[in-house]
Amino acid sequence: MIQVEEKYSYDDVLLIPSYADFLPGEASVKTRLAGDIWLNAPIISAAMDTVTEYQMAIALALEGGAGVIHRNLSPEEQAQQVGRVKRYLNWIISSPVVVQKGQTVADVEKIMTDTGVTGLPVLDGTILCGIITNRDMRFCSDLSQKVEDVMTTNLILERGTPTVETARDKFDKHRIEKLPVVDNGGHLTGLITVSDMEKHKNFPMAAIDDSGSLVVGAAVSPNDYMQRIPLLKAKGCNFVVLDTAHGNSLSVMQAIEGIKKNFDILVVGGNVSDGDGARRLIDAGSDAIKVGVGPGSICTTRIVAGIGVPQLSAVYESAEVAQKFDIPVIADGGIKYSGDITKAIAAGASCIMVGNLFAGLKEAPGKEVIFEGRIFKQYRGMGSIGAIKEGSGDRYQMKKDDEPVPEGIEGRVPFKGELKPYLNQLVTGLQKGMGYCGCRTIEQLRSYKKFVKISSAGLRESHAHDVNITQEAPNYSRY
Ligand code: XMP
Repeated sequence: MIQVEEKYSYDDVLLIPSYADFLPGEASVKTRLAGDIWLNAPIISAAMDTVTEYQMAIALALEGGAGVIHRNLSPEEQAQQVGRVKRYLNWIISSPVVVQKGQTVADVEKIMTDTGVTGLPVLDGTILCGIITNRDMRFCSDLSQKVEDVMTTNLILERGTPTVETARDKFDKHRIEKLPVVDNGGHLTGLITVSDMEKHKNFPMAAIDDSGSLVVGAAVSPNDYMQRIPLLKAKGCNFVVLDTAHGNSLSVMQAIEGIKKNFDILVVGGNVSDGDGARRLIDAGSDAIKVGVGPGSICTTRIVAGIGVPQLSAVYESAEVAQKFDIPVIADGGIKYSGDITKAIAAGASCIMVGNLFAGLKEAPGKEVIFEGRIFKQYRGMGSIGAIKEGSGDRYQMKKDDEPVPEGIEGRVPFKGELKPYLNQLVTGLQKGMGYCGCRTIEQLRSYKKFVKISSAGLRESHAHDVNITQEAPNYSRY
């Protein structure tokens, strides 16, 4: 008799509710992405050319998640996008743009135009001796004047290691825009700006690293990581995702070993769909495992190749193995509603990755299209013909000049407006799920695992039924 294992998808199951002694809003959704990187929302945006470029990565990290910049971009363009995310928010800028005593006002004007920076510390060697801003130069008609004749020397500064409180106090008291930081010898060690202080205040949930900048990742492949990673690291990229459709393969294991040998950077390996794949990625050195072969809304891998594992079981089995090594699992693809996020985490994931749910947002790079009077955004698989033509074929083990045999489609999704309110729907839906399960933390939900299998009648009963929907809900729609 043929032996066929039974595996489950998100729609095959529900979580059984339990007693809770807290309100859903009190549940903490903080989670570990990889190594020492923590997120304040367990949601990552997919490395797809209609989902994540710098605008998406900034908007998502400001709300606690993280974006992975796709790689249908040249290594230079991709690194530049990472740089834009890293520069968006700082605590102390460790290498600020500076001028040297002896340079001219014309030099300063040029530096300001080239870098877009409007206030520069003035150095004598490495010693801070002044600061020059647009305001200092406003009435200066002689561009050959030396910086030291125009700069402000009566400096408000921080010495040693400032805290947010001491810095805020100085900004409030002195109405300055830039606050240089020096060591005891007067050497410049950093710069704090008022706009960064304000952004930190306005985005208390932001996912930030030790340097106070937004967390961001970038996709690489076994064929291009040696070229991309040095550029990405130079811009401060926090992690790379070895982005392949078949992570349980020799070339991926070798690439992970190569990354670990050559670079000091966290690496997410994937994609796999079972414990064996997870174990091999861990042995090769992955800091997190990405799970999902064919569950994505634009994927046709399962139909074209006849392979795959329903996503809930794939996450569960991979997480069972990864948990023994304290390696986080990212559930990638197939998330349709916030309830699927709760299920993915209850199956053992630490984070989820989404493409479809974010592709319709204003911050996604896909083009807007009008169809039958409504606004949509373009959303396509990285294995679709259009994306392959722009470089992503090696994700699907295709060579550059191969005739494309796609594993994804090109389509459109409804325009959804800005990320912030939409993400709030997803995170609050997850917190509701945590409340129903009596789990106060992501760690508790990860070990909850009280699933019940439902029938097609159970799924029908779960959805809105026997009614015409007259008012669209922001967190529920049916295609
Ligand atoms: P969702 O369901 O969020 O899934 O749209 C996004 C994930 O799907 C994967 N992906 C693909 N898989 N063919 C595939 O088999 C494709 O063309 C394709 N493009 C993206 C990817 O893992 C992504 O995060």
